[in-house]
Amino acid sequence: MNTAYLNGKFMPIEQAKISPLDRGFLFGDGLYEVVPSYAGKLVGFQPHINRMNEGLKAIGISNGWSEKNWLDLCLKLIKENGRGNLGIYIQISRGTYESRAHRFPDKVTPTIFAFCFEIASPPVADKTVVKTYKVSTAKDIRWDRRDIKSTSLLGNVLHYQQGVEQGNQETLLFNDNNELTEASSCNAFIVKNGKVLTPPLDHQKLPGVTRQILIDILRKDGSIPIEERVLSMNEVTEADEVWITSSSREIAPVIAIDSIPVGNGQVGDVWLAAQTLFSANRYNY
Ligand code: PDD
Repeated sequence: MNTAYLNGKFMPIEQAKISPLDRGFLFGDGLYEVVPSYAGKLVGFQPHINRMNEGLKAIGISNGWSEKNWLDLCLKLIKENGRGNLGIYIQISRGTYESRAHRFPDKVTPTIFAFCFEIASPPVADKTVVKTYKVSTAKDIRWDRRDIKSTSLLGNVLHYQQGVEQGNQETLLFNDNNELTEASSCNAFIVKNGKVLTPPLDHQKLPGVTRQILIDILRKDGSIPIEERVLSMNEVTEADEVWITSSSREIAPVIAIDSIPVGNGQVGDVWLAAQTLFSANRYNY
């Protein structure tokens, strides 16, 4: 698996070269998406492209690509890289310019780069095989526009690494008011008394596609109540279940926070019901 796309051409990834003057490299001036694909079937293609277009608009990059252009790119990468379990990574930076200056250059062509990496098989709704997560907690130190899927991920990387160094696989983040924002590379949900809760969208968190799909599936099904509202740290640590969601993980159960078990320390029944619904509906988005 090594065919990448760079600025109009497909090539072995080793041959994909970007100038050190690219503003993505110098300033982190760009954004990215990761679209999952299982056996050639994309999950959430349209919401991913919608979010990317919103982000491009917010940071003033226009590249003129239609949804069809993006779909053709994804399908060609799947064809070239085998129809396994793929994360299709797409990055657009403002482009390469001859000098380093903060202001947007007047004439610059965005750099478009895409490649595939292997991801795990789609999660199975089975308590005995699902990968469980232990997480750390931290005060969210990132910038104030986390709704943009910026390639400037240093804050996210530092938070993730903090979790790793504490023997965990993610870090849940809380704002100055001790309210849950998200995790360093996932959105977050809790379950209390059978109800699913997640913080509302704002600039403090990424509008995750998996989050959006999950909320939509739960609302349409109607058997599990779901509410978007501010969640305090106490509510998170006292939850019956905690989940983190992302494109490659779908709904991942968290079984310990800062080494303290979540609920009874086991994967919960509401997770099972939610992942069962997600598995049945993932290709409808
Ligand atoms: N991470 N929040 C953050 C900070 C993220 O980086 C991600 C995704 C999510 C979940 O978004 P989605 O459901 O659209 O994947 C939430 C990606 C996959 C990554 O950086 O690799």
